[in-house]
Amino acid sequence: MSERLAQIAGHLNYPQGLLSGQVAIITGAAQGIGAETARLFANEGAKVIISDIDASQAQNVASLIISNGGQALAVPGDLLDDSYIKTLVQKAAEFGNNKIHIIVNNAGFTWDAVIHKMTDKQWDTIISLHSTVPFKLIREAAPYFRVKDGEPRNIINISSTSGVHGNAGQANYALAKAGVVGLTKTIAKEWGPSFGVRANTIAFGHIETRLTANKEAGAFVEVNGEKVALGIPEKQKKAAGPLAYFDIPLRRPGTATEAASAVLAIASPLSSYITGQTIMVTGGRNM
Ligand SMILES: NC(=O)c1ccc[n+]([C@@H]2O[C@H](COP(=O)([O-])OP(=O)(O)OC[C@H]3O[C@@H](n4cnc5c(N)ncnc54)[C@H](O)[C@@H]3O)[C@@H](O)[C@H]2O)c1
Repeated sequence: MSERLAQIAGHLNYPQGLLSGQVAIITGAAQGIGAETARLFANEGAKVIISDIDASQAQNVASLIISNGGQALAVPGDLLDDSYIKTLVQKAAEFGNNKIHIIVNNAGFTWDAVIHKMTDKQWDTIISLHSTVPFKLIREAAPYFRVKDGEPRNIINISSTSGVHGNAGQANYALAKAGVVGLTKTIAKEWGPSFGVRANTIAFGHIETRLTANKEAGAFVEVNGEKVALGIPEKQKKAAGPLAYFDIPLRRPGTATEAASAVLAIASPLSSYITGQTIMVTGGRNM
């Protein structure tokens, strides 16, 4: 690698990693894209706060990072509970010596139905989790972002092709994921001029996690005691046959590591002049 390339990769300019000394809250980090984001961030020197409703998995992710020499803290809880959002920010600030540099609003799941069959509970839960929660977390953490200490500050909101292009059966999710695009641009415009805060949306296409695995695998979340099955029915996947992934120029789904790598790229100083954007990480789908 040339000297210039090595610098760009951070090996000379960032000897302790691209996110050295930064403190990052990653929601939904107990598995999937969030867990990979936490791992990659910690590899680059960030102190990561693993926020997730799944307490034991969140602790596993934190323990694994620590056993590999990284710095992590699991702060489990339900993001739909306002008091947890306060606790999360408070514990993150304690862990970060009164600093928080990055928030990745990633937690979520899908609860699909066609428009005429969608219940209020499906609608309200998905709008809350994917749009209202990111807003409330950012508002709670505002004192740590509206600062002038010369250190970088970054907010990354996770969206989806469903939010950018719509998707049959996902009116709730599409609205919520479109919502964070507007929220992100607003943060970029409010907190960019005086505080240098960058805010970007990353919209994923088909990434291999339990959300896109076969529904028959049995993954579920519970909403007020009601089980919501996760995944895509095998029958629906099989029906696509040889046309599966035909609308993806790279002809394959992405991995959680590929998705998380895009989050790291946007959080890193290599993206220091990128703000207010919606970055599509889709293998080229929906160009
Ligand atoms: N997998 C894909 O193809 C895909 C595509 C586009 C967008 N996304 C988005 O990416 C993000 C991550 O999804 P993933 O595929 O890694 O899913 P995942 O199920 O592997 O991880 C999501 C995590 O969010 C947590 N979570 C859910 N509800 C929560 C709550 N109320 N409080 C705290 N934590 C909660 C879950 O426990 C889980 O650990 C989501 O916002 C999803 O909508 C995923």
